[in-house]
Amino acid sequence: MKILVTGAAGFIGFYVSKKLLDHGHSVVGLDNINDYYDVGLKFGRLTELGIERNKAEIFNVISRSNSNPNFSFIRLSLEDRENLPLLFKEEGFEVVCNLAAQAGVRYSLENPEAYVDSNIVGFLNILENCRNFNIKHLVYASSSSVYGLNSKVPFETTDSVDNPISLYAASKKSNELMAHTYSHLYGFASTGLRFFTVYGPWGRPDMAMFLFTDAILKGQPIKVFNHGNLERDFTYIEDITEGVVRIIELPVNERKDPNTLYKIYNIGNNNSVKLMDFIKAIEETLSIEAKKEMLPMQAGDVTRTWANVDALIKDYNYQPNTPIKKGVEEFISWYKSYYSIEHGN
Ligand SMILES: NC(=O)c1ccc[n+]([C@@H]2O[C@H](COP(=O)([O-])OP(=O)(O)OC[C@H]3O[C@@H](n4cnc5c(N)ncnc54)[C@H](O)[C@@H]3O)[C@@H](O)[C@H]2O)c1
Repeated sequence: MKILVTGAAGFIGFYVSKKLLDHGHSVVGLDNINDYYDVGLKFGRLTELGIERNKAEIFNVISRSNSNPNFSFIRLSLEDRENLPLLFKEEGFEVVCNLAAQAGVRYSLENPEAYVDSNIVGFLNILENCRNFNIKHLVYASSSSVYGLNSKVPFETTDSVDNPISLYAASKKSNELMAHTYSHLYGFASTGLRFFTVYGPWGRPDMAMFLFTDAILKGQPIKVFNHGNLERDFTYIEDITEGVVRIIELPVNERKDPNTLYKIYNIGNNNSVKLMDFIKAIEETLSIEAKKEMLPMQAGDVTRTWANVDALIKDYNYQPNTPIKKGVEEFISWYKSYYSIEHGN
C-alpha cells in the first residue's frame, strides 16, 4: 500500500511509519518540524528512518531514505494549500494517516492560534485532498481530551462529547465532525482514533513521563498537579502503533461494517493509573525519590481518563498488553542512552 503519514517526525508518526515500512508498505512522511518542542528530537527520529538532518531541513523537497527505499520525507505544512495538492497528485496515495497536529492541552491556553492553523485549517486541507485525489481511507488522530468534563468511566465512544474544556479538545472534536461531513458527502472512509496519554521511547518532552524523568535526574522538583489526584489511561507506544497499523492495513471493504464509512474508536490501555503510582514507577526504576511540588489543578486539564476499547478489540483484535512498569523501564532506558550519546552526560 502507498501511505501518507503526516506528523512523521513526531512521536506517534515516527513509530507508525517505522511499522508500516517493516510490513513492506511504501510510506511518504510529511512534517513541518515546528519548534513546539526540541527539533533535535524530531530530526533524530527522521535520522532513524534514514533521512539526514541536512535533507530534512529543506522545505518542499522530497528526500529518499538512505536506509529504506520505501520511505521518503517532505518538510511541508498542512496549511500549505498550494503544495499539498501537488504532493497528492504526484504520489497517488491509497491511505492517509493524519497524525500531524498542534498537540498539548496546556499550550492551547497560550497559543490558541496554532490549534486553528494546524488542526482546523490543516485538517480541512487534508480532507479536501482526500476528496480530490480519491483517497480510500483517512485514518486520523483525535484525542481522549474530547471527553472533557465527562465523569462516567470508562469513556465510551457512544458518550456525548459536548463539553470540551480546552481549545485543543475542541479542535479534535471539530476534526471528528469535519471527517463525518466529508465521509458522508464524498464517500471515502474515515477512522478517528481517540488516543489516551501515549508514552514510551522517543516520547514528547512536554508530557509527564519525559518531564518527570528529566527533572528527577537533574535533582529538580516535579510539578504534581491537583495534588496528585489525577488518573490517566497511559498507553505504551508499541500498543498504539500496532492498533493504528492494523486499522490502516485492513481494506475498507473488509471491515466489520463496510457500509459505515465514518468510524471513531478509543485507543487506550483500558486501565486508569493513579498519577502517584505512575510517579512511583519512575522513582523505583531510577532508584531516586522525586522532590514533589504539589500544585492545584491546571486550567484545561481533566482529572481522570479511562478508555473502553472493546470496539477496537472486537473489530481489529487490538490487544494492548504492556504493563506500566515495563513501559516506564523502556522509556528510562531509552532516555538515558539517548541523552548520554547526544549530550555526553
Ligand atoms: N501523544 C499523546 O499522548 C496523544 C494523545 C492524544 C492525541 N494525540 C494526537 O496524536 C497525534 C500525534 O501526536 P504526537 O504525540 O506524536 O505529537 P508530536 O507533536 O510529537 O507530533 C506531531 C507532529 O506534527 C507536526 N506538525 C504539527 N503541526 C503541523 C502542520 N501544521 N503541518 C505539518 N506538520 C505539523 C509536528 O512538527 C510534530 O512533529 C496528534 O494529532 C496529537 O494531537 C496524541
